[in-house]
Amino acid sequence: MSSKGKKNREKPVSTGSIALRIGLSSGLNLLLIFIVLDVVLFCVFILPSLADGPGAVEININSFNDFVQLIREWKIDILLRAEGLMVVLWVLADTLKVRRKLSPLQEFADAALKLSEMDGEIEQRYQKLENAIENLSPAEDDQKLYTGDAELAGLETAVNKLMSRMRDSYRQQARFVSDASHELRTPIAVIRGYADMLDRWGKTDEKVLEESIEAIKSESESMQHLVEQLLFLARGDSGRTPLNISEFDLSDMMKEVWEESAMIDKAHDYRFESRGEIHVRGDESLIKQAARILIENASKYTPEGGEIMLKSLVADGHPAFSVQDSGIGISESDIPHIFERFYRADDSRSKQTGGSGLGLAIAKWIIERHGGRFEVISRKDIGTRITVILP
Ligand SMILES: Nc1ncnc2c1ncn2[C@@H]1O[C@H](COP(=O)(O)OP(=O)(O)OP(=O)(O)O)[C@@H](O)[C@H]1O
Ligand SMILES: [Mg+2]
Repeated sequence: MSSKGKKNREKPVSTGSIALRIGLSSGLNLLLIFIVLDVVLFCVFILPSLADGPGAVEININSFNDFVQLIREWKIDILLRAEGLMVVLWVLADTLKVRRKLSPLQEFADAALKLSEMDGEIEQRYQKLENAIENLSPAEDDQKLYTGDAELAGLETAVNKLMSRMRDSYRQQARFVSDASHELRTPIAVIRGYADMLDRWGKTDEKVLEESIEAIKSESESMQHLVEQLLFLARGDSGRTPLNISEFDLSDMMKEVWEESAMIDKAHDYRFESRGEIHVRGDESLIKQAARILIENASKYTPEGGEIMLKSLVADGHPAFSVQDSGIGISESDIPHIFERFYRADDSRSKQTGGSGLGLAIAKWIIERHGGRFEVISRKDIGTRITVILP
């Protein structure tokens, strides 16, 4: 809203004066009609009677007074007064009628006038808000939008909530990048160490050569796995992972992962229980990936020979699947954190099982994208059961 626009604005014409103008013009029309009628009357009836003949009136019109006398004689003054009165009443009635018809327009004009008068106030508020937003610094955590205007309080709260969510997300991203760099640093340092070793003794010592090659291969493999996990999450965060939705049988899917797990991992006893056909709509390969992540954890955190049970089921009318192991279990205090990025319980770190703490974060992303949720039940040294419930 510019001040230029304000200057150009004119006070609207009131509907009262428009109605009066219309009333006067129609009154004028009536007056003209009367004048024409009166002239005709004068010429047809009065003028002939002034001439000779029976009933002729002896008046000579030589002056204005004579004319007035003539009018009085013929009682024309009464007619003229009546006509005048009729014209006045006509003007009044017409004005009132037009005014009544224009009254909605008047209300509209009043409202528009009120709004235009508020313009300045709105402009001031807008300016105040603009200044307050300009003074905000997104990096300072405790800084909030404040204008001091009670009527802007709702807007302030909404903006402050949005800012707080943006700051949280920014902090999460920053932590993710720093954790990722930290995680990548370890395998790089190991690879460099072995490369140095190769450089010094590898050419002569066969044992060092073999050990170094083996270590470099394994470290680069785990680094590749980590980079793939990071890329998955980064793509997910930026909305670049589309879902390939189709209808599939959850029991069939679980049977497939059961067969492949039993084939790859001979150290555990895999079992499978199915509730028959369970139709699900979703991205089958992503949901399968989430199931594999749970199975990989069950295998990693269960001692050799332990049992791992896979199930497809219907939980409260919802399609679901679960992975249950007889492993080390998760302490109660760790359970709320296991889906956080890079979170690993102390036990898992010390046991040198390998991993970066991204598996469950990826599974969570996949299941939440499908509108599903997790249920975790775990006891230390007894085992863990994680159930995925799809909508
Ligand atoms: N079945 C399980 N039994 C015991 N602890 C588990 C189990 N599943 C997950 N955890 C705990 O949750 C943590 C997070 O699991 P997550 O799969 O995200 O990471 P990770 O297995 O440590 O590493 P990654 O999967 O990235 O290779 C694990 O470090 C472990 O402490
Ligand atoms: Mg894992």
